[in-house]
Amino acid sequence: MERVNRIWNHPLYQENFRLLLLMEADRKFCCHGLSHCLDVARLACLLEWEAGRRPDKELIYGAALLHDLGRAGEYQGGASHEEGSLILAKQILPDCGYSEEEQKEILKLIGSHRGVREREGLAASFFRADKESRCCFACPAEPECHWAEEKKNKSILL
Ligand SMILES: [Fe+2]
Repeated sequence: MERVNRIWNHPLYQENFRLLLLMEADRKFCCHGLSHCLDVARLACLLEWEAGRRPDKELIYGAALLHDLGRAGEYQGGASHEEGSLILAKQILPDCGYSEEEQKEILKLIGSHRGVREREGLAASFFRADKESRCCFACPAEPECHWAEEKKNKSILL
């Protein structure tokens, strides 16, 4: 997992991650810190196993660490967070040891983790992991949350 830790330790990653933590310090809705990133990665790996595929952990963890990094920029009125995350990932990934093909796959996962569209394979697992990582049933801010009712996780998912 050396390449994943290179992402984590990358100065541009740390700069944006710390800014994101500061900006979400008083946020009552879902936050996008390290716990969320690791929940997404672990759940995506589990979903891949369940689909009969061997998960590429370094690729999945890399995408999970980066997928919401653009949130700080979005909070400041910049691009949507998936666009912002893509811009940052394109600057960070070349320094982290992933092949060109792996970088493209990570960017694809980041770029497709939101919105309504057809997904299959790993992209579908990653999308599900991002949504199912949230414990709406235990969230005090759930009644005020903008997520559509059918999207909210109302119980522990197995
Ligand atoms: Fe997320």
